[in-house]
Amino acid sequence: MRNKLVYILVFLFFQVISFKLIAQEDQANLSKSNRHCANCHGNKYYSFFNSVTEQDQRKRMNPFFIIDTVAYKQGVHREFSCEDCHASEYNTYPHAPELKLEPKFSCLDCHGGDETYAHYQFEDIEIEVDNSVHKNAFGFQFGCAQCHDLHSYKPVARNKKSLIKEIVSADNQMCLSCHNNLSKYQILTDHTKPELLSTHDWLPNQELHFMHVRCIECHTPVTDTIMVSHKILPKEKAVHLCSDCHSTNSILRGKLYKYTAKQLRSTEKGFYNSMFLNEAYVIGANRNIYLNIISLIMLGGAFIGIAIHIALRIIKKK
Ligand code: HEC
Ligand code: HEC
Ligand code: HEC
Ligand code: HEC
Ligand code: HEC
Ligand code: HEC
Ligand code: HEC
Repeated sequence: MRNKLVYILVFLFFQVISFKLIAQEDQANLSKSNRHCANCHGNKYYSFFNSVTEQDQRKRMNPFFIIDTVAYKQGVHREFSCEDCHASEYNTYPHAPELKLEPKFSCLDCHGGDETYAHYQFEDIEIEVDNSVHKNAFGFQFGCAQCHDLHSYKPVARNKKSLIKEIVSADNQMCLSCHNNLSKYQILTDHTKPELLSTHDWLPNQELHFMHVRCIECHTPVTDTIMVSHKILPKEKAVHLCSDCHSTNSILRGKLYKYTAKQLRSTEKGFYNSMFLNEAYVIGANRNIYLNIISLIMLGGAFIGIAIHIALRIIKKK
């Protein structure tokens, strides 16, 4: 099982590398002012003129300050210039030291109270985040940007074209970007990072589960009012029961599968049947409408049989 995981990690590693190579070519697509920033922040290395030694110098970029320019052009904020969110003083290098102290924008600074984005329910999401384990532990240090990269974020679950697998992978990546990354994790805390593989070893076939369900399926309450619940509960309250998912009344219907359900409600196939025809299949969680009809016909047939039998008996007696 672990071997497979290593293969997957190696594969992902090469994907990231090839992405970075494409990223360097793709900077031409950025606006001129963004290209200026991306010259340094889009690469692993940057060059500048050192005015003290009066020489050109080449240095390594801090990996956490590298912006993936391909992802940037695909994200919802692609039309933005860097300076829309960062001070224009960043134009000079070395950056002025006091810029480090500058507060960064939060999602609500722009999206709060804006009718255009009301359907995303930013305010409700903020309340849920405020009540999550992370906020309780780390306060303002744990903002929206810990999970959402403003430089690349684009909605996945909401996108009608997303397959369940894509939703699972994208959403889990938001948690794993930290829970599987010691240096990001330890910005927040000195505690040893729990090893996910061992804390979840009660779950059989872990890899399969992590490919088919999201972390938030088990770690947030079921809610009807919000598309993606943001209230991460303490670990004691996480879903532990197999039957919560593997049953006709699966919680997945109110969570992961609600997206497909929403998409299909307008079609005429009907919920259970669409689930059955769909990839979204969990043992025991489905009912097939044809099986239902057949069993109804059989039941009806049995009643008619009995009725004929009684009728014949009455006729014979006469
Ligand atoms: C000549 C290369 C170079 C250019 C051009 C450049 N930066 Fe930087 N930037 C850096 C380096 C190196 C750092 C790492 C911290 C430092 O050395 O100040 C950095 C750090 C940053 C940080 C993090 C500051 C912190 O510590 O919190 C931000 C934000 C930033 N740059 C934004 C920008 C923006 C926006 C632009 C374009 C307007 C830009 N940079 C242009 C090299 C550059
Ligand atoms: C929609 C707003 C937005 C835009 C546009 C934007 N940024 Fe950022 N950027 C942020 C926020 C918010 C953070 C802080 C993230 C955090 O707290 O971890 C950030 C962080 C950074 C950092 C790392 C600093 C750190 O503390 O981790 C760098 C470097 C950076 N941005 C560079 C850029 C560059 C270069 C561009 C343009 C190509 C750009 N940003 C465009 C909002 C934006
Ligand atoms: C500096 C202001 C600013 C910040 C900060 C910001 N946004 Fe945006 N966002 C915008 C604007 C403006 C648009 C519209 C862009 C366009 O139409 O090209 C947008 C677009 C979006 C969209 C697409 C909306 C649609 O239906 O087209 C989503 C989703 C979104 N933002 C989410 C977020 C999230 C999540 C955060 C925080 C992690 C965030 N934004 C932070 C200004 C901001
Ligand atoms: C612990 C991680 C985490 C934090 C913190 C977080 N989010 Fe999210 N958020 C997610 C995940 C996962 C999704 C699902 C992404 C997808 O599939 O589109 C999401 C989706 C969203 C969406 C899209 C919902 C929709 O209906 O399409 C918005 C808007 C959003 N978050 C806003 C916020 C705001 C605002 C904050 C801060 C107050 C925040 N998020 C903090 C993990 C997080
Ligand atoms: C099938 C349900 C399920 C899924 C899916 C799941 N978890 Fe968990 N998780 C649990 C349960 C139950 C516990 C509590 C385990 C215990 O009490 O030992 C837990 C514990 C944890 C803990 C606390 C570990 C500790 O020892 O402090 C973290 C962190 C965590 N999960 C993160 C994640 C992340 C990240 C994902 C997605 C990659 C995920 N979980 C997916 C059910 C799940
Ligand atoms: C930026 C880092 C970061 C991200 C992103 C993140 N977490 Fe965490 N998470 C932490 C840290 C640090 C802790 C330890 C909290 C503590 O020490 O009390 C934690 C704790 C937890 C716990 C255990 C809570 C408990 O009761 O002990 C769970 C469950 C959890 N996270 C789930 C998630 C899920 C699900 C996501 C994605 C939606 C996510 N986390 C995203 C850093 C992160
Ligand atoms: C959060 C929901 C959830 C929970 C909780 C959960 N499962 Fe699953 N399980 C799934 C999904 C989704 C699949 C993938 C079904 C598929 O497409 O093959 C799956 C697959 C499986 C499979 C593999 C079936 C196959 O086709 O190979 C087994 C075995 C299994 N689960 C057993 C368990 C057991 C035992 C527990 C409790 C310890 C459990 N599951 C808890 C959602 C869940």
